[in-house]
Amino acid sequence: MVDAFSRQGSELYAEDVALSAIATQVGTPCYVYSRAIIESNWREYDLGFGGHPHAICYAVKANSNLEVLRLLADLGSWFDIVSGGELERVLLAGGSAGRVVFSGVAKTAEEMERAIGVGIHCFDVESVAELERLSRVAARLGKVAPVALRINPDIDAGTHPYIATGLKETKFGIAIDDAITTYRMAADTANIQITGIAAHIGSQITESGPFIDALVRMLELIGELENEGITIRHLDIGGGLGIRYRDESPPAAREFIETLVDRVRDHRADLTLYIEPGRSVVGNAGVLLTGVEYLKSNGDTHFAVVDAGLNDILRPALYNAWQNIVPLQDNPELRSCIYDVVGPVCETGDRLGSQRELAIEAGDVLAIMDAGAYGHVMSSNYNSRPRPPEVLVDGGKFHIVRRRETISDMTAAESAPPQD
Ligand code: LLP
Repeated sequence: MVDAFSRQGSELYAEDVALSAIATQVGTPCYVYSRAIIESNWREYDLGFGGHPHAICYAVKANSNLEVLRLLADLGSWFDIVSGGELERVLLAGGSAGRVVFSGVAKTAEEMERAIGVGIHCFDVESVAELERLSRVAARLGKVAPVALRINPDIDAGTHPYIATGLKETKFGIAIDDAITTYRMAADTANIQITGIAAHIGSQITESGPFIDALVRMLELIGELENEGITIRHLDIGGGLGIRYRDESPPAAREFIETLVDRVRDHRADLTLYIEPGRSVVGNAGVLLTGVEYLKSNGDTHFAVVDAGLNDILRPALYNAWQNIVPLQDNPELRSCIYDVVGPVCETGDRLGSQRELAIEAGDVLAIMDAGAYGHVMSSNYNSRPRPPEVLVDGGKFHIVRRRETISDMTAAESAPPQD
């Protein structure tokens, strides 16, 4: 595995590039990704499968920058998408439609039409109503839509409630108790071809247990479906592993996959296994650089006021998520102090980290670590703040793969009513 960002002397580096050089040239706030780390993370999954038939369907929602998608497509990755927009991104990045699985609870007829038109590999269907719509759209096009039903296995993934998706109270999937009847129905539905079965129990899961529980339930179900004469060619186990933000210790991807493959092989050696990792491919491959604007104290509370806010990185505010914050350059001359690291947005919740010990002064640049997944993709223009640029490091070089937004980018889609 390639080492994540490392310190060389007093400076934090991404591969062979000092992050301070990027901050100087590109400005802050700014996302920086390491190509080598992304590739290594993806390959670890691939190695785990050995010779077992499989597909690693990178979850585009985690980071949909075209260059990130392009480098994954070049590795041979498949893609898990949840919108028509993500489909277009995959195609623009040179990904092949035949390697796309389409998840999501609310697919529109237009999205289905486009996805059938370009020939995606499979729809992960989440309800009877969706199945009926898909059948109508496919019939109109004179095509057959390939389908896996996404089953909600009713498993507690032990993660943040906003990102736990496999409990029966959530909106996702088809209840496991209805799985057999829904498969029977799908088998009788015109213009639908059953190819597989899918599940996704949540994100930032840092142990194998819940995945194995879901796998076991799905394998049982596959057995029951076989008895019904319904053939399942692939099993999609959903998103990948969680990552270490602070003190979590998720299993290594390679061993984790080996464990899953062993279980599958015991059951059916020809069952193709799909996985849809997002966070564990790009999360530790990215940082958000942010400049310190001011240091201030209100009573006993010390604040480091930085130039990135919750519009640039939403996870801390939305999930109370902890991400490490470190200065790009160590400065032993400075006294350390406990800061709340806060952004410019007019909300008390615009706090990127609380109670962090840092030795810093105004003008320093900080790195918010592990920001490669669910970082830029969740950014917004709130407070009319242009979204930050994205930079991809490759060895000793770096490239801007998305420029900083301008005020005119932000207002371009707005218009006045006609004057009469
Ligand atoms: N497949 C499906 C159907 C999903 O819904 C997701 C994530 C994934 C795959 C990828 O899961 P991963 O490998 O990244 O765990 N914004 C939240 C995470 C939301 C995840 C939603 N679904 C966060 O920042 O923590």
